[in-house]
Amino acid sequence: MAFAGITGIGACLPEKILTNFDLEKMVETSDEWIRTRTGIKERRIADENTAASDLATEAAKRALEDAGLKPEDIDMIIVATVTADMPFPATACIVQKNIKAVNAAAFDLEAGCTGFIYSLSIATQFIENGTYKNILVIASDTLTKITDFKDRNTCILFGDGAGAIVVSRVEEKGILSNFLKSNGNGGDLLYIPAGGSRKPTTIETVRKKQHYIQMNGSEVFKFAVKVMGEAAESALKMANVSLEDVKMLIPHQANQRIIDAAARRLNISRDKVYINLDKYGNMSSATVPIALEEAVKMGKIKKGDIIVLVAFGAGLTWGANVIKWIK
Ligand code: UT7
Repeated sequence: MAFAGITGIGACLPEKILTNFDLEKMVETSDEWIRTRTGIKERRIADENTAASDLATEAAKRALEDAGLKPEDIDMIIVATVTADMPFPATACIVQKNIKAVNAAAFDLEAGCTGFIYSLSIATQFIENGTYKNILVIASDTLTKITDFKDRNTCILFGDGAGAIVVSRVEEKGILSNFLKSNGNGGDLLYIPAGGSRKPTTIETVRKKQHYIQMNGSEVFKFAVKVMGEAAESALKMANVSLEDVKMLIPHQANQRIIDAAARRLNISRDKVYINLDKYGNMSSATVPIALEEAVKMGKIKKGDIIVLVAFGAGLTWGANVIKWIK
């Protein structure tokens, strides 16, 4: 059996920063409320000319360079996103065109904020069963494009960004386990009512703002706290790794209080939990690879370290990967 491991990583964040103080001028809120309720201080915003594929393309190029591979070495491109450039073609196909990955199969994966965890799991299967050698897994989201900046319940939370990894056939097992789960019964806790086949876009749906994110924040909060710990524990069990052997937990960056509660439930010390949501907010599927890239770049993750990635999101979906850093 072939082994899968991460051989390259890259990220891309838009330059424009929106601070809590900027938001104070847009809705009835305060820097203090946002910081104490969420932990977020600022977030990045993609400008009107920047789509998910643009951030994904840049992140992908950086991951390829880091892996020392050429675009034509890539066999498959998976883009996890809830903010595709358009309903079709897939954002992954647009990235393929941009980077000239002429030998790749490309498709998008939609699993809400858990999209990166799901995509990494799929890449692992294609590597381990011997079908492919190099797969680009990209998570790119521009949530601010589907956010109502008059709704203070949601607009303070979200930001834009992309992270990418190359998953390759390697000598040493780098992806130790993947745990995925979903519960469609909770779909209406976090969704966009219109713009799909259920309710195609009309002047009326736009007037009712049904093309924007609708969220039951407190219910998502409770769900998140419960499943983050469960997912991490299940993935660790599958990998036969104990929590003491974990160098770092990289959780989906949605809310500081969710992360703190999940860490308490897991009984993992805070210094082992990587947090950067103060700078970027919730970037959906992109939060985990961007945090991973940052931790690696800062030297907090070294060869041989065991890391747990864990996320939850719309669907509802949740999941975790246990990885060994092999670079
Ligand atoms: O990737 C998954 C995406 N979603 C999430 O992860 C969201 C998870 N949920 C959360 O992070 C939290 O539920 C929120 C941050 C969204 C809200 O925090 P909360 O502690 O659950 O507050 P709440 O919704 O219970 O609201 C408390 C109060 C309300 O006022 P009343 O009804 O008690 O008078 C809200 O109207 O805070 C009010 N409020 C605000 N006040 C100032 C809500 N948003 C704001 C705001 N500024 N931006």
